[in-house]
Amino acid sequence: MKNIKISPSILSADFSQLGNEIKRLENGGADMIHVDVMDGHFVPNLTIGPPVISNLRKYTKLPFDVHLMISPVHKYIKDFAEAGADIITIHPEATDKLEDSINLIKKLNKKIGVSLNPNTEINTIINQIENIDLILIMSVFPGFGGQKFIPEVIDKIKDLKKIKEKNNYNFDIEVDGGVNFSNFKEVLEAGANILVSGTTIFKENNGNIKKNIEILKSI
Ligand code: DX5
Ligand code: ZN
Repeated sequence: MKNIKISPSILSADFSQLGNEIKRLENGGADMIHVDVMDGHFVPNLTIGPPVISNLRKYTKLPFDVHLMISPVHKYIKDFAEAGADIITIHPEATDKLEDSINLIKKLNKKIGVSLNPNTEINTIINQIENIDLILIMSVFPGFGGQKFIPEVIDKIKDLKKIKEKNNYNFDIEVDGGVNFSNFKEVLEAGANILVSGTTIFKENNGNIKKNIEILKSI
């Protein structure tokens, strides 16, 4: 299968060494860096914000795939764009008007990502789908790394792939949460072309990042 991209989540990294961890991911063959931003309100966890991201920017040229699990999200989009995000992914439930937030991300010349929780239907974003660059299918309920993959999302990936092919859209399909060596092939065959992984990449094979990324690309 062509052009599979791996976006390791730094949520599973050593937060006291984030700069070096990003270098390790780049040297291990990561295609982009998945940055999980959590506010303790949209999700029951707190991580990092724009100041940390702007400090991490100098450690790599790889795209920052910034997953905003924050609400309200609209008023913070500019801060993340200025901090160095390349892809800004928002949850539709976190903005009053998805169209306005999409237009703002576009105006800031960033790639637009929209994330669907396991219980959020594709229909929620269907009116905006042609303006979206990346659709992030959550295979866990967001908030924590190391959770179990929800197999029901496989059908949602297949449905999204059908919509993409039928309408000749070219958005990326990224899957996030509980992706591991026993389910990644099914996820890719269902239609994903970008895999997010935290636990599997940082913990498997004694933390051999290069090997773990190679395995996730080996279909
Ligand atoms: C969960 C985050 C995911 C998570 C993935 O809310 O959005 O990116 O960190 O971690 P693993 O791969 O450990 O499930
Ligand atoms: Zn994420």
